[in-house]
Amino acid sequence: MNKRILIVFLIITSSLGMMSLDQFEDFFKITKKDVKLIYPTYFPKPSYSFSSNKLSPDKFVLGRKLFYDEILSKDNTVSCATCHERIAAFAHVDHKLSHGIYAKIGTRNVPPIQNLIWRTSFMWDGGVNHIEIQPLSPVENPIEMDEKMSNVLLKLKNDPIYVSLFKKAYKDSEITSERVFKSLTQFMGLMISSNSRYDKFIQQKDTLSKMEMNGLTLFRAKCASCHTEPLFTNNGFANNGLKVDPSLNDEGRYKITKNEKDKYVFTVPSLRNIEMTYPYMHDGRFKKIMDVLNFYSEGQNHNATVDQRVTSIGKLSVQEKKELNAFLLTLTDKTFLYDRRFVDPDYVFSR
Ligand code: HEC
Ligand code: HEC
Repeated sequence: MNKRILIVFLIITSSLGMMSLDQFEDFFKITKKDVKLIYPTYFPKPSYSFSSNKLSPDKFVLGRKLFYDEILSKDNTVSCATCHERIAAFAHVDHKLSHGIYAKIGTRNVPPIQNLIWRTSFMWDGGVNHIEIQPLSPVENPIEMDEKMSNVLLKLKNDPIYVSLFKKAYKDSEITSERVFKSLTQFMGLMISSNSRYDKFIQQKDTLSKMEMNGLTLFRAKCASCHTEPLFTNNGFANNGLKVDPSLNDEGRYKITKNEKDKYVFTVPSLRNIEMTYPYMHDGRFKKIMDVLNFYSEGQNHNATVDQRVTSIGKLSVQEKKELNAFLLTLTDKTFLYDRRFVDPDYVFSR
């Protein structure tokens, strides 16, 4: 090897070596500043305010550990993060339907986790209405984590690391479901996406191209009544005209309300970070944003409960689809996707 190249090589490798545990630790350190609830002025007031779950670095760190820990599942193989992948805004790329414990396949696509504190209901059918009890559902679901909360608590109590983390967070080492859920809520509740190019445009810190602007205009005319700015959901439910997949026959919100009007009606998902959260819809049937636009333009199925706001979209031209697609890509928020606070420290240290 050429001498100069060798020297450069040595400098690089030795400095990498020197980027020691200290720097890694700093990277993962959670300070008071990291747990401040910050959101743009044009966002509405959140529906969950942390008033009965005061934000603190220690509770957040406990929530982060729980989120990434397989200990929450029966055979210690599945964590929340197995299905909710950070780089996909905590959705799950690749799989149409979720994959859980014992390699079992679920019936629904994994939704992203972002801006939860503005939501008034959760899941594709709105079956859960409080963020703090949401995690009970995957833990006890036989095809997700198949564990009993009582057993999770036993396992946590037998783990000295958890005993000390609970003590730090709550001043005594009592380990209860409420504390587990509240800590997870701190971690997930701070997953806030508010710094996409769209946001910079709204804050007049960036401009949109002509193509993206045309897309925004079209979006406001045809889509925003449901995917309402700035959260890109109206927190409501609708039947957006998908053909029913007979192999799943998912009746959506009807399962919860038993009201005929709710047959095939689903939660209106946010479109933030849509570039990263493929595949799309409650059953992950579409791989690409363009597939979704083709569906709204020419693939709608008009059954009894289909929403008029969808049927009135009409046919989109090739140019209009390109414009809408360009606009939707401005919703990717790299600040959120690469936020160090949400990285799993144990993953990095164990490799
Ligand atoms: C086996 C995969 C899997 C695991 C493990 C899993 N989830 Fe989920 N998660 C899903 C699926 C699928 C949904 C949507 C379910 C539905 O709509 O019926 C979901 C929904 C959610 C939602 C609601 C999001 C929304 O937009 O409504 C939250 C929050 C959530 N999960 C958090 C968690 C937490 C916390 C854990 C760990 C305790 C966890 N999940 C474990 C697959 C999983
Ligand atoms: C009547 C309300 C309504 C209107 C209008 C509407 N949508 Fe939707 N959209 C929904 C609902 C509900 C879903 C979820 C449906 C499901 O999975 O069953 C959805 C899903 C989506 C998804 C997939 C999101 C994901 O995470 O899987 C995209 C992308 C999308 N819509 C884009 C658009 C665009 C672009 C327009 C305008 C051309 C539009 N929508 C108009 C209600 C609406």
